[in-house]
Amino acid sequence: MAHELVLIFDFGSQFTQLIARRVRELNVFCQIVRHDLPLARVRELKPQGMIFSGGPNSVYEPNALRCDPGLLDLGIPVLGICYGQHLACQMLGGEVKHSSKREYGHAILHIHESVGLFQGVSPETRVWMSHGDQVAATGGDFVCLASTETCPVAAVRHLSRPVFGIQFHPEVSHTAEGSKILRSFLYDICGCHGDWQMQAFLETTVHDLRQRVGKKRVICGLSGGVDSSVTAALLRKAIGTQVACIFVNNGLLRHKEFETVQRTFQDAFGVELHAVDASERFLSALAGINDPQEKRRLIGHVFIDVFRDEAKKIEHAAFLAQGTLYPDVIESGGAVDGPAATIKMHHNVGGLPKELGFELIEPLRDLFKDEVRRLGLELGLPEALVWRHPFPGPGLAVRCLGPVSSDRLKILREADAILLEELKRTGWYRKTAQAFAVLLPVQTVGVMGDFRTYDNVIALRAVQTDDFMTADWSRLPHDLLAHISTRIINEVSGVNRVVYDISSKPPATIEWE
Ligand code: XMP
Repeated sequence: MAHELVLIFDFGSQFTQLIARRVRELNVFCQIVRHDLPLARVRELKPQGMIFSGGPNSVYEPNALRCDPGLLDLGIPVLGICYGQHLACQMLGGEVKHSSKREYGHAILHIHESVGLFQGVSPETRVWMSHGDQVAATGGDFVCLASTETCPVAAVRHLSRPVFGIQFHPEVSHTAEGSKILRSFLYDICGCHGDWQMQAFLETTVHDLRQRVGKKRVICGLSGGVDSSVTAALLRKAIGTQVACIFVNNGLLRHKEFETVQRTFQDAFGVELHAVDASERFLSALAGINDPQEKRRLIGHVFIDVFRDEAKKIEHAAFLAQGTLYPDVIESGGAVDGPAATIKMHHNVGGLPKELGFELIEPLRDLFKDEVRRLGLELGLPEALVWRHPFPGPGLAVRCLGPVSSDRLKILREADAILLEELKRTGWYRKTAQAFAVLLPVQTVGVMGDFRTYDNVIALRAVQTDDFMTADWSRLPHDLLAHISTRIINEVSGVNRVVYDISSKPPATIEWE
């Protein structure tokens, strides 16, 4: 695909992916590359612009991550953010002031030069800072573009080269006009036109898939989630009946999920769907197991067995399609020019081993989640599916704390369905990133009518997050919580108490197991 391309050099910032998402939102395709990508490779890739990310180092540390200084001689515009700015300035002879103290939080930026990078930005604007070092007084080859109270040189440009630096983080939402600044860099300084559009991506991907697959068949594992659904719909569009989907009911799905997925794909999309009900097999493997990791391991194993058995029934299948996304590729160190692997946030059960003998197709591996959703809408998937919250591979097993049994799952499923129904009814489903019920392994005392009860407790969890690495608990209205609680206790037999989880991540995690 011949897109305009911007490279984001990763110097280890926790926000590198966020920078990439912001650039993509501005319709410019970008890729995250490792900080020391060789100059020759950069020339080959012909980027329109380069962004140097922030990073945890000080340029004065002996092992600080660096890039090839030749990058600054290519005549390609560069925007250095925080550490990226220090590095670019230092490489061009500017002075960076070392500080052992970090400044962290909001600041008001006063703009001195309202053209170029700061075109159209308010003269005083709120930005978000997180840094130790800063660029010292300018002069020489650098012009100061903006300052804050504690940081006299909060933005710079080089006098003769298209090199810019900013001390604050334009990618985080706390920087009020961050997107405007990035837009000026991409459109006015790099000369991008914004050719990264989902419709165009769809057309090229369909074309590429047809070329690659030829007359062979493709198996696509469906989980009911957004990624695998979009993958399936994309393949259906590209290669029609050559795709066959396998959807395994592991007995750990949510209320009516098995039926809904079948209806969506079989009836609405006409996909050949192998819906396998293997609930019994999974539940008997899980009988008596309490340990969360052991639950995950067993579910993973049984899944592979079931999937393999079903895949054998699909003749002439040469490919296996998976809904791997760009963040997975980056974090696993699997991007061609990308940074080394970072710690994955969890093991994704439902992953299939290479020994299945298929060639892998991953049509979403360049996309972020928000882009996958846009693609899903473009492909005509129902809104309810496109905006689904993520659901873990091991399903309700990790939300049914303690032993997993069909009785306990029934309670959990019913409580969860009430929660989701109420969130959707009140518009809160779209305002939360993930919400679910958890069945606790304790019983508590209650009274119902004249009787004393000793029944189960349901915990409700609802979180806001951008990336699932950190999360805050959703401030659901008290009246809504009260209504959900009343409904669950009245309607779900076996529950006499509902609690709401008010922990953020970290130190808690989103799931309870
Ligand atoms: P935690 O609980 O680690 O969850 O804060 C972060 C995100 O990952 C999901 N999650 C999983 N997804 N297999 C999955 O496919 C798993 O074993 C698993 N564990 C957690 C979780 O739902 C949340 O979106």
